[in-house]
Amino acid sequence: MSNIAAAQWDEARSLRLAMRLRDMDASRIDALGMVREGVLRRAVGLTLEATGCSAPLGARCSVESTGGRWVDAEVVGFAGDRTFLMPTSDLSGLLPNARVLTGSSRGEVAVGEGLLGRVIDSDGVPLDGRPPLRAEDFVGLAGVQINPLMREPITRSLDVGVRAINALLPIGRGQRIGLFAGSGVGKSTLLGMMTRYTAADVIVVGLIGERGREVRDFVESTLGAEGLRRSVVVAAPADRPPLARLHGALRATAIAEWFRDQGLHVLLLMDSLTRFAHAQREIGLSVGEPPTTRGYPPSVFARLPALVERAGNGADGRGSITAFYTVLTEGDDQQEPIADAARAILDGHIVLTRRIADAGLYPAIDVEVSVSRVMQDITDPAWRARIRRLKQLMAAYNAQRDLIAIGAYQRGNDPLVDDALALWPQILQFLGQDVAESATVEESRNALARLLDGEPEIAP
Ligand SMILES: Nc1ncnc2c1ncn2[C@@H]1O[C@H](COP(=O)(O)OP(=O)(O)OP(=O)(O)O)[C@@H](O)[C@H]1O
Ligand SMILES: [Mg+2]
Repeated sequence: MSNIAAAQWDEARSLRLAMRLRDMDASRIDALGMVREGVLRRAVGLTLEATGCSAPLGARCSVESTGGRWVDAEVVGFAGDRTFLMPTSDLSGLLPNARVLTGSSRGEVAVGEGLLGRVIDSDGVPLDGRPPLRAEDFVGLAGVQINPLMREPITRSLDVGVRAINALLPIGRGQRIGLFAGSGVGKSTLLGMMTRYTAADVIVVGLIGERGREVRDFVESTLGAEGLRRSVVVAAPADRPPLARLHGALRATAIAEWFRDQGLHVLLLMDSLTRFAHAQREIGLSVGEPPTTRGYPPSVFARLPALVERAGNGADGRGSITAFYTVLTEGDDQQEPIADAARAILDGHIVLTRRIADAGLYPAIDVEVSVSRVMQDITDPAWRARIRRLKQLMAAYNAQRDLIAIGAYQRGNDPLVDDALALWPQILQFLGQDVAESATVEESRNALARLLDGEPEIAP
């Protein structure tokens, strides 16, 4: 071969290589062991701006910090040649023009039986000081969509161990329910009760954006050693960056999905959905989204259904995820945008009312305004008739509550109110339940029948 031919061949080969590299995506380049580096240009609030790293949305990056530390971040947007990143760990120590290394893969979630009994953070790092986790598999943070036509319908009721819910707001296996209340009305406590008493194979708990103190409380007091054995707790308390809180909720859901796909019946508890929405609001606003709905950017209302739709029954009878999400109704405002959006996407809502809690009645469930949208499918007509009857009695009583309280109600004015008055002490007793007490579905139905008809429905 002549020298000229060899040079041409060399050039053609370089050209081919260059073409191939150009067509490769970031992950391919990473697999070849090449690193693409960007430079940190701006850091305002929680938003970082880098240039020179063309990474896909959702890609993990590391930003060099002082003292050889690296700050983990994720690509949340871009504009022209600028890439917007948000940290998933502490930001302090970042310097201008710091190196930004682009990771290839989107966050992956380690899953496996080994997660049972463990408490992890939003990155999957154990918080319980026990040995590292052994993963059986890795799944995506964002989950896999299930064809809605393939989903098993909700046909079986689920025992949650709380009388008022079991009897009056029956929950179906695979249902997604919101627990709506103002602050301090008892959402977390009720969630804790259901954690202990619900008939589920696996319980996945996402503690998102709430107090850090409650994490330990939940693990030690609510779950206890016995409960923890069948549970996985993902904790991303309020002091974690917004992206970490967001990931915490996604990770908990991804773990629940994996257990469901193993054919198990999973109870997913998320405290709270509102804090998840707040995390997305912080992210959306800091990358420049407009605050369109009472301070919330549109992405919040896209994130909520994307999260909630992942729970539910699996395809073709393979396991289920029954999910409870707590929703904070600020100032007890039921029309608050997050509460409103949540009510529209969930299959039911249980409302806790401050008036009832203040009267010392716990759980403070407002039976009149709470709704279970699958009730029709999992109850029989006699049961539904009793539920209706109790709701009517309570509505009649509550309409005359003020008159009754000052002794101005005249008996005989309204037969329904008279009935309600006669039954009221028993109704309160039926609704109230101590944290340490559980009631099965059968016991709850019997108690309801005994309350209204004077005799249990099914032979106990
Ligand atoms: N079933 C119950 N029995 C007795 N007291 C209760 C019960 N549920 C709630 N409480 C009381 O209400 C307080 C607040 O309850 P909890 O923390 O569950 O409310 P929350 O709605 O989760 O509040 P936040 O919005 O602040 O998270 C508890 O500390 C307790 O004193
Ligand atoms: Mg709470």
